[in-house]
Amino acid sequence: MSERKIGMWLYSNGGGDKIQKKIIKKLKDRGIDTLNNINLRNAIARNGHILFHGDENRGEKLDKLDLMFSYNAGEQTQYQMYLYQALNRVIPMINSYDSFALTEDKFHTSFVLRNAGIKTADYKLCHRDDGHELKKIIKKWDKMVYKPTDGWGGVGLTKIENEANLDMLMPFLNQMDLRYFYVEKFIDYDNTDFRVDVVDGEFVSCYGRKASGTDWRTNVTSGGSVFMREANDEIIKVAIDACKATGVDIGGVDIIYDREKEEYIVLEVNGIPAFATPEQEKMGLDFNSKKIDLIVDLIDRKTS
Ligand SMILES: Nc1ncnc2c1ncn2[C@@H]1O[C@H](COP(=O)(O)OP(=O)(O)O)[C@@H](O)[C@H]1O
Ligand SMILES: [Mg+2]
Repeated sequence: MSERKIGMWLYSNGGGDKIQKKIIKKLKDRGIDTLNNINLRNAIARNGHILFHGDENRGEKLDKLDLMFSYNAGEQTQYQMYLYQALNRVIPMINSYDSFALTEDKFHTSFVLRNAGIKTADYKLCHRDDGHELKKIIKKWDKMVYKPTDGWGGVGLTKIENEANLDMLMPFLNQMDLRYFYVEKFIDYDNTDFRVDVVDGEFVSCYGRKASGTDWRTNVTSGGSVFMREANDEIIKVAIDACKATGVDIGGVDIIYDREKEEYIVLEVNGIPAFATPEQEKMGLDFNSKKIDLIVDLIDRKTS
């Protein structure tokens, strides 16, 4: 077989630099070379090629690689996303552009999950001029959450507790020049969630996050904390199904338990779920090596 070469862009913080080294070594053992730190910010497209200009690489043709493994910032610039999409037209990418772009959008994700028969929070999306639709739905739901469809870390989520709340919020929303409104029914849950990692259709790990006393959001960026938590078969199945439905090879699925309906629901699928940090490893989260092995297997298979 001819030599294989892939491109990789993986985050370096929170222990990511060590993860990069381990992946590169394991790929090397299988005869796969890695061009590291391929940030598409530093690439240009010229005619049929996407050329990378890094410190060491002068005009490396990314379109000639066997695969590109993109695992860095969730929030990418329009330029990075534009080249991600172009590159994925000619070589395989993990995650694929389509699945990554899908999971970056909360409405599209919920829409696809619901169509695949996976339970999500009830939601409503409407045109910015149809604000009256929000009035109608709050009457039915009692409480709801306004969500930016492309947010992360719990940022911008607003809990709307009643009609008076909504009346107060509407002028602000109207000022913000949004194209649409996306709201979800507020789920009655215990302020904890399950983060389930899946690689290539296989369960990797589960841990929990708990909101801090004053917040209803479990995100660490919103004050939440990570704790050891086991998944059950039902949770694992929901997570694997959610990854399959959204098409991600690697996914981190956020699941909460709806106490009213007595069922697990998927809040979102994260296309770049973090490896355990050194601190979390000390706590006992020991899934990194399993995750690395599954990723290496996946790259090996997709490039053979
Ligand atoms: N419909 C909902 N009902 C109750 N809590 C919610 C709902 N949606 C989100 N949350 C809480 O807010 C957090 C962030 O929401 P999420 O949709 O995962 O967005 P983000 O991308 O910002 O993490 C969740 O982890 C959960 O704790
Ligand atoms: Mg989340």
